[in-house]
Amino acid sequence: MNKLYELAKENIQNAYVPYSHFRVSAVLELKDGRTIQGINIENASYGLSNCAERSALFAAYSQGVKKEEIERILVYTDKEHFVSPCGACRQVMRELMEEDAEVILANSLGEMKSMKNKELLPAGFTKEDL
Ligand code: THU
Repeated sequence: MNKLYELAKENIQNAYVPYSHFRVSAVLELKDGRTIQGINIENASYGLSNCAERSALFAAYSQGVKKEEIERILVYTDKEHFVSPCGACRQVMRELMEEDAEVILANSLGEMKSMKNKELLPAGFTKEDL
């Protein structure tokens, strides 16, 4: 996990956050060991801002990565508390990663909290509901 942590910590400088100044960095690890990064990207039209988790997942899918290939995502913020993935990201993670994929929250103190994707969105809406 240290590798993911170091990657996220290094890449957080790329967060584009002129409005909130709240930086978030996410790194996906695939089962074959590849990693894909994402950062939050804001916009003057605030609602168009994209969180780090979704940036990483959309980058992965844009490169042809499939749900089954994703082992985990680490979400890092340079604060002493853990970032709590927003509702939109929980919904997107639920659909684009397996329900047992690992979600690791990491803070600036090097502390990490691990959970399963499905635990972040109990009774979530999925394509089975359609
Ligand atoms: N943000 C993320 O990137 N991930 C989260 O899990 C929570 C919030 C971003 C969105 C926005 O750019 C900033 O943090 C403040 O809400």
